[in-house]
Amino acid sequence: MDANHSVRFFDNQFQKQVSEQSFALNPFEEAALPYLTGSVLDLGCGLGNLAVEVARRGASVVAVDASPTAVAHIQRVAEQEKLALQGVQADLSNYQIDVQFDSIAAIGLLMFFDRARALELLEEIQRHVKPGGCAVINVLIEGTTFLGMFQPGHYYLFGRDELAQRFAGWQVLEHVYHTFPAPENTEKVFATIVARKV
Ligand SMILES: C[S@@+](CC[C@H](N)C(=O)[O-])C[C@H]1O[C@@H](n2cnc3c(N)ncnc32)[C@H](O)[C@@H]1O
Repeated sequence: MDANHSVRFFDNQFQKQVSEQSFALNPFEEAALPYLTGSVLDLGCGLGNLAVEVARRGASVVAVDASPTAVAHIQRVAEQEKLALQGVQADLSNYQIDVQFDSIAAIGLLMFFDRARALELLEEIQRHVKPGGCAVINVLIEGTTFLGMFQPGHYYLFGRDELAQRFAGWQVLEHVYHTFPAPENTEKVFATIVARKV
């Protein structure tokens, strides 16, 4: 598997979740559901809880992550339930999106790259949303002090208003911040944007 520290961190977590059959959507995934219709790309999909639910609702979904445990689980569910859901194991640090999608989600992903790659992947996402389609992006932002899941020197905390700035020219449907306590008196600060390409 990929030697990346963050991917190993999540793969261990996903092994535990698969063994416990724990597949609940997180609040960010719940909030993204209404915007993900038609052909959908879920980048950094994790265990695929969102991708599976979106496919169950009739969308055609490509779900990409580097975690072998997560992708094997997604492929198993897709096969069992005969869903239009393709699980792809890939390292997103050098991945190119090859077709246009009605909607693209990247929830809790882009901060796991250095600044240059995070912004390059964000632009790649923006280029591959069809006109009228939606992007749903959730990232950790400055003010976050919980850094244990990052590879040292290999992450990017977005500026507080950076997502809104980078979606200038799009119709912003939602732009919200959430702060959660984390171990050892640290915090995670998230920004989430839902934007429609005009
Ligand atoms: C915070 S989790 C979010 C998962 C899911 N989107 C969710 O909301 O639960 C971050 C995900 O990004 C994936 N990831 C991190 N770095 C990656 C990389 N270089 N290539 C592919 N996936 C990566 C991890 O494996 C993990 O599944």
